Amino acid sequence: VYDHYFFNESAYDYHDGGYVKLEEPDVPASRLNIPAILAPDQETDTDVWYTVSAQTGETQLLPGEKTKTWGYNQSLLGPTIVFESGKNYHVTLKNDLPELTTFHWHGLDVPGPYVDGGCHAPVYPGKPRKIDFTVNQPAATLWLHAHPCPLTGWDVWHGLATAVVVKDEHEAQLPLPRNYGVDDIPLILQDRRFDEHNQWDYDKDYDPDGTAGPTALINGTVNPYFDVTTQKLRLRILDGSNRREWRLHLSDDLEMAQIGSDGGLLPEPVYLTKLMLTCAERDEIVLDFEQYHPGDEVTLYSDDVPIMKFRIHEFKADPTPLPDHLADVDYPEVEDPNAPIHQVVMSGTDEEVEINGRKFGMMRIDDRQELGKAEYWDITNTNDCCGGMIHPYHTHGGSFKVVSRNGKAPYPNELGYKDTIGVNAGETVRVKMRFNYPGVFMYHCHIIEHEDGGMMAQLQVYTQDHPHK
Ligand code: C2O
Ligand code: CU
Repeated sequence: VYDHYFFNESAYDYHDGGYVKLEEPDVPASRLNIPAILAPDQETDTDVWYTVSAQTGETQLLPGEKTKTWGYNQSLLGPTIVFESGKNYHVTLKNDLPELTTFHWHGLDVPGPYVDGGCHAPVYPGKPRKIDFTVNQPAATLWLHAHPCPLTGWDVWHGLATAVVVKDEHEAQLPLPRNYGVDDIPLILQDRRFDEHNQWDYDKDYDPDGTAGPTALINGTVNPYFDVTTQKLRLRILDGSNRREWRLHLSDDLEMAQIGSDGGLLPEPVYLTKLMLTCAERDEIVLDFEQYHPGDEVTLYSDDVPIMKFRIHEFKADPTPLPDHLADVDYPEVEDPNAPIHQVVMSGTDEEVEINGRKFGMMRIDDRQELGKAEYWDITNTNDCCGGMIHPYHTHGGSFKVVSRNGKAPYPNELGYKDTIGVNAGETVRVKMRFNYPGVFMYHCHIIEHEDGGMMAQLQVYTQDHPHK
């Protein structure tokens, strides 16, 4: 067990030049919005049917005028979508927006780009599309977001993002909080700027190095509080921001036990007092409020700005310790240690961002890897070592295990399956990567304006039978 391990210290303390500071909200606190769980249209023991509609709407976010927003099945963000590993899913995707969008299942293993929902899979207004897939992966917190290249930034900023929870039998046996909405809640961290009419103006705030705003929203709530009624609380935290890193800590330096990251549970809990998430990363943590009494408040901060309060109520003592061992994180060995290492060099700023010296080309395949086999990838951020942005690297179609950061051991809270990793300025992160379905998948920086600006590439996952397909 790692005691008070300090995650990624230099990056945690460093803020690059384009950084928009969070401001303390000057509106009264409101109860944290807990997204409903998406109800199936129909279900059997083995199959579940869902409908997800992208739509426009208006949401009361601040006192006064409502904000024009977009969401899935509601005016902003969406319901939490639950998948059980082993079941078959049939999802109708509907677009009620004025323009095309896509539905990208970030972190979900799905058969090919059409289901994955990146740039290759547009859904047009008034033309619903059905996708079918079987979920077969460990319990995890994933997300759904729009991904129409190069307008992902616009869509996500307007609200097209929602939490996805995968459940499995192993996780269900562990003594962990899992009463959704009570002691197990998603926290979607985002930031926006409101104008004098309470509206968002993406074009005005647009920054090719990543659009940001000074107001924190959690699950679409400005200045939220959550009523704590249990000693332990599990938070499924998602950085759903276009460009912001969240540098989290709690009042009294309350310890966070991190139990999971992008692709599922960690091998064992990691205890921290500071935690950083880069865009699109997920971290599951468990808080223990044992030392608090009814009427107390615990504050969550990012960058020394309070972003949320936990109001403590009466709770039953819960002495169950967290399990020492959470999950086996097995990853295949790289079979051919002399095989060339895939290279991803992320360089440039503003409009000049590139991968391996090129901008994204939808008609070009940039790299290839065989289905199911693990290979090494080196992901480099050429920014100046002690300045410059972190690029959160993300791959579709697979997951990876972090091997090293600049040759040194990865941090203990990144020893689970990952699909997104913050690559610090001046750093090379080596990962072992594996892909689970054939097809063409994207990989990119998840600062959304960087990916929209071309810091993105495509990979062909091939099989021996179809080496060129
Ligand atoms: Cu979360 Cu290519 O995306
Ligand atoms: Cu970037």
